[in-house]
Amino acid sequence: VTGVVAGPEPGTLDRAGLFAGLGDPALASMNFLNEVAMRYPEAVSFAAGRPCEDFFQVGDIHRYLDTYVAHLASRGIDARRALMQYGRTKGIIHELVARNLEVDEDIRVDPGSVVVTVGCQEAMYLVLRALRATERDVLLAISPNYVGITGAARLVDMPVLPVRGGPAGIDLDDLVDALHRAAAAGLRVRALYLVPDFANPGGTTIDVPTRERLLDIAAGHGVLLLEDNPYGLFDAGGGRLPTLKALDRNRTVVYLGSFAKTAMPGARVGYVVADQRVAGPDGETLLADELSKIKSMVTVNTSPIAQAVVAGKLLEHGCSLVRANAREAEVYRRNRRLLLAGLAARFPGGEVTWNTPAGGFFAVLTVPFPADDALLELSARRYGVLWTPMHHFFAGTGGERQLRLSYSQLEPAAIATGLDRLAALVADRLPTAEEVPR
Ligand SMILES: Cc1ncc(COP(=O)(O)O)c(C=O)c1O
Repeated sequence: VTGVVAGPEPGTLDRAGLFAGLGDPALASMNFLNEVAMRYPEAVSFAAGRPCEDFFQVGDIHRYLDTYVAHLASRGIDARRALMQYGRTKGIIHELVARNLEVDEDIRVDPGSVVVTVGCQEAMYLVLRALRATERDVLLAISPNYVGITGAARLVDMPVLPVRGGPAGIDLDDLVDALHRAAAAGLRVRALYLVPDFANPGGTTIDVPTRERLLDIAAGHGVLLLEDNPYGLFDAGGGRLPTLKALDRNRTVVYLGSFAKTAMPGARVGYVVADQRVAGPDGETLLADELSKIKSMVTVNTSPIAQAVVAGKLLEHGCSLVRANAREAEVYRRNRRLLLAGLAARFPGGEVTWNTPAGGFFAVLTVPFPADDALLELSARRYGVLWTPMHHFFAGTGGERQLRLSYSQLEPAAIATGLDRLAALVADRLPTAEEVPR
């Protein structure tokens, strides 16, 4: 029949007719990395940034629930309805979250400014959705950065412009340049996303004077700081620094929280503190209330059952996750020590270098050859060791000769074996004496 354009078979969709972001590497990279890990389950994995599961007990879930139910009962609240019905969009454990922030971080916020989300990932999405109002609105992010923010930005079609991280965690001159460049291009920078403490993937930490200057620069330019802090409790022994939110005097910081590393990732509970005032013709609201409108159309509310499990853990430890994670923090410290000593023992020559993170889960190794997805594949298949190519965390170029090593979830023997395997891989890739040009 003339005039009928041949389309795909019934039951088949044309990729070109779907959301363009589906072709974005940021959305594919998590799946690629998971898929490699699934294909080589025997490999020692320095890849996954998962919390230590040595102390996970299924029985704890039941007890945490009981603890929270008892807490509700003591306040005259019907637990059946609180846990089993639809619930408040901003969450039901906001007061405990606010208390936790005060106890562990010296952050004092009104519980009304907390939105409890389905993991930190949802919080990122909500914030970016709210901030991306026009075509001109862009996000700055320290490069390299966590892929979750890149992916969330892609979902709301918000361009992400890189700011140099470097060993100090942020290059403030480059930040100021980026702000000026964006303004000159007619763009409106809404926020800078960053992980000031023990960053994923770089393992870097921003010092206090730089935090203070960053707050001033952001306030001066009318830019929010999206502070993501999933690893801040896990310092390597050198102490913890005040968060940007604790130093914030002008409501410049939107604080993103996750219970994935401090309670359990399976609960999928995170939160955002958004205490910024939003002025409109009908008066003022809080940014948290605007985010809750978006949330009501994305996940309706965070599972109250999952919130209750996290709440039980908080209640059992006086709302301190530092206290709740004393054993885990010790494991991360031990593993970091073993990793750094193991690297020094295996790579004495200087061709391979690495950073010394002050805490968290990650270190970065720099090698004198490309560490790309093909090498990861070979590393898994032939050498039995997994790691993450750093290029996944850069928009555009960067990290081509770097590996992210996660040390959070390994036993000491596995760290030793994994490093032996990594050393074998590196030895095979380094030019042999005959190949080195004289
Ligand atoms: C920097 C950073 N932010 C957020 C998250 C994810 O948090 P959630 O599991 O609560 O969505 C991670 C997890 O790896 C992370 O590394």
